[in-house]
Amino acid sequence: MAEPVQIAVVGSGYVGLVAAVCFAEMGHSVICVDNDERKVAALQGGDTLIHENYLPELLERYRNTGVRFMTDLGEATRACQAIFVAVGTPQSETGDADLSYVEAVASEIARSIDGYKVIIEKSTVPVYTNEWIRRVIERNGVHREAFDVVSNPEFLREGTAVEDFLHPDRIVIGADSKRASDLLSAIYAPLTGGEYYDRPDAIAGCCSALKPPPSLLTSTKSAEIIKHASNAFLALKISFINAVSNLCEAADANVEQVAQGIGLDSRIGPKFLRPGIGYGGSCFPKDIAAFRSVGEQMGVDFNLLSEVEKINDNQKKRFLGKVRSALWTLRGKRLAVLGLAFKGDTDDIRESPAIDLVEMLLAEGCMVVAFDPAAMERAQAKLPPSAQLRYANSIDEAAADADALLILTDWREFARIDLMQLHTLMRYPIIIDGRNLYDPQRMLESGFTYLSIGRPSATPVREDVKLAV
Ligand code: UDX
Repeated sequence: MAEPVQIAVVGSGYVGLVAAVCFAEMGHSVICVDNDERKVAALQGGDTLIHENYLPELLERYRNTGVRFMTDLGEATRACQAIFVAVGTPQSETGDADLSYVEAVASEIARSIDGYKVIIEKSTVPVYTNEWIRRVIERNGVHREAFDVVSNPEFLREGTAVEDFLHPDRIVIGADSKRASDLLSAIYAPLTGGEYYDRPDAIAGCCSALKPPPSLLTSTKSAEIIKHASNAFLALKISFINAVSNLCEAADANVEQVAQGIGLDSRIGPKFLRPGIGYGGSCFPKDIAAFRSVGEQMGVDFNLLSEVEKINDNQKKRFLGKVRSALWTLRGKRLAVLGLAFKGDTDDIRESPAIDLVEMLLAEGCMVVAFDPAAMERAQAKLPPSAQLRYANSIDEAAADADALLILTDWREFARIDLMQLHTLMRYPIIIDGRNLYDPQRMLESGFTYLSIGRPSATPVREDVKLAV
């Protein structure tokens, strides 16, 4: 059994909270610190605050035992040897990451350091942030020997963050001293040594005792760049397939076949080649902008990233054009919108292309009735119900009497709609699918006009089918 480490996690957002309960699951003793008293009280009471697989179970298992929640960063610093910083790094007006929360946390940690500590960046930060943290701590009178700063980036996807944490593709430890990298290696030993996966109550996933995750030791700067470069590469892959999907539309080819054909090349791989209405979420848009900005500040030409952003933005405009091409005019049209979250299995609407599209449709004078299985509360806070925008309680309610139905998020249940029933509910059987959840031939057979991304559109020619135009 590996030695438990006393760990503090600063920040209880997606990354911080998941890291805190997962470290407890790995056998460590954790203090999770947040300066928001209401959040701390909610977490102490067992409310996870976010929608994430396995989080309720793990929180119930460890709250107030393996994980204690508190607001006092000073107390947590004194009690722990490893302090993970997982506070927000929002996008500033210029595109680069706003590091003021990271700086504030570093100063506060410095004031409470009473022995050797390792401060670990978990938040996504630009290269050189570790240097700045180091400087801030030294400026606050702490001797260089009393601490180390390490970069240990996270590659968690929302919705599967707990599985991603406990079954990672790799663990990246960016440390410039052996003492610090030894501590991080000890923290991850239950995973890298495989011991965790032999436990009968372990969360299931792709790693096992025989196939534990590899850990990669790098310099702190390399680790910082690995995080930004990974997200930028994934966004690039998505924009690439979206650009190819536009070409497929122009050539009357099928992007799904093309994606399969290129994805079978083991050098390319099949993942992140799903075309759609563009990427969103709390990471990709912000991280691409921040990485581009890092390049600019260092005098490195990285215009490729601007193109990635441009294609992503354009994808939403093209989708609006598709809606227009199916309906001729938009003003006064009654549209069912399925999906508001930036992807399926989450209630997160940050930078959601679905929300952007609803705003664009409202600006065109459409009447929208929207439904999302998890993101409606958050969506209503951003786009309050109005004469033009209603929120429905089900797919059927959204679809009733609609001139067209738009699929904007890849929720599993949107791929399993009873098409016969849907056909009877809608005013006109027109579906514009921004996530390619259906086979066009099946839609045609079910009597729908069906437009999707990068595939030939399907329009029934039967006399008995009602058409919009
Ligand atoms: C992402 C990274 O995957 C994760 O490693 C990082 O730590 C945080 O950012 P997340 O934002 O949760 O995770 O979502 P992800 O599943 O990666 O999807 C991001 C966006 O890309 C979504 O809007 C999704 O719909 C879109 N996407 C993804 C596509 O359009 N096509 C794809 O093939 C894959």
